[in-house]
Amino acid sequence: MIVVGVSGGIAAYKTPALIRRLRQAGHEVRVIPTEAALKFVGAATLEAVSGAPAISDVFGAEPGSNHVELARTADLVVVAPATADLIARYAAGMANDLLTATLLGVKAPVVLAPAMHSAMLEHPATQANLAALRQRDVIVLESPSGALTSGDTGPGRMMEPEQIATMVLELLGSGPANRPPPKSPASTAKPQAETGPTDSTWAGHRVLVSAGGTREPLDPVRYLGNTSSGKQGLAIAVAAAGRGATVTLVGANLKLDVPDGIALVPVSTALEMSNAMAPRAATADLIVMAAAVADFRPAAVAANKIKRDGHGGFSLELVANPDILAALVEARRPGQVIIGFAAETGDRDASALEHAAAKARRKGTDLTVANDVSGGAIFGQDSTRVVLLDKVGQIVGQAEGSKSAVAEAILDAVRAMVVG
Ligand code: C5P
Repeated sequence: MIVVGVSGGIAAYKTPALIRRLRQAGHEVRVIPTEAALKFVGAATLEAVSGAPAISDVFGAEPGSNHVELARTADLVVVAPATADLIARYAAGMANDLLTATLLGVKAPVVLAPAMHSAMLEHPATQANLAALRQRDVIVLESPSGALTSGDTGPGRMMEPEQIATMVLELLGSGPANRPPPKSPASTAKPQAETGPTDSTWAGHRVLVSAGGTREPLDPVRYLGNTSSGKQGLAIAVAAAGRGATVTLVGANLKLDVPDGIALVPVSTALEMSNAMAPRAATADLIVMAAAVADFRPAAVAANKIKRDGHGGFSLELVANPDILAALVEARRPGQVIIGFAAETGDRDASALEHAAAKARRKGTDLTVANDVSGGAIFGQDSTRVVLLDKVGQIVGQAEGSKSAVAEAILDAVRAMVVG
């Protein structure tokens, strides 16, 4: 059962769409509006879309569905919109209505979709309250910039109901959110002074990573694949989660243990990876395309195992797969950082690094992680050596060592790029 909390902001008129979407996905929904929310959206509407009573007052709750029961039986609580007042009361541990009393008792994941005027959102009090809640593993969604009801423009809009629903369903589907994110060895090893500002800037941010090698089937038992293990992508996912980010890993054929706290979306082919990445990219702050994606796939997949046919050879017709990275760059939203990988070999025309620099310029990514894979180096190994290139192909960093250490260096480079 999902508890949808609604607090008193103009964006509350959009909450019925969220409730409807969650119910369409097969979830039971219990809605808890604050008294102020009912000034923006009627109880009759909330009851009609949720199919359950919409009660605000602790004393109005029916036996069996009071705040203790609701808190105990909720699989997830999402508060949309979460106003400055609701956030302040939740952060302070107050319990003066049914929503805050329920929030105080809940052990399941809690997702907040803040919505308010930019000035209220940016006020140090609100920021401190949000930081305190993030510390307690509350998932704080982004409040996108745009036109506000006041006529001003700035951050503070509520994330669209469809996007909130996607997040909620993903959290429930993979179920990692009720567990704390893993601490990556490198980030826990660092002294607090070094990681302090870094950690606070990653908390609440969404990181989407692809890892592994795609497999393109020829017939029921054969495929075209590559030797990528997914270790580097996984190390980046673990490092980002260790810094407090909310991480989704789209993993192609991973044979690795993915720690609790990272939402794994398993895929196999390039097309599956493309379909998994596109909707999730819409809400990601950082996308890392570490997967080795097959550029081509067999034009047709044989229904039965392909038999040896006489003594002749065998030719396979291939068609191009989508360039997932190119599509992500094309659809990039403002402020989103996109990282690509370039596993290159040197040849007569240019060195591996020169090829990588050309790719960095061509791809439109913010950062390119280049490595020299001549002679099959790097893929599947535990250590690596990379050069980090900016969008014009200039070297902005180098890292060598375990894939975890390199992952930390990549995230440091992202932070340097964003924060300056
Ligand atoms: O051009 P190349 O395939 O070497 O580019 C590598 C980068 O592009 C990697 O980040 C890889 O994940 C991504 N890629 C992709 N879709 C493809 C091929 C590669 O997103 N079809």
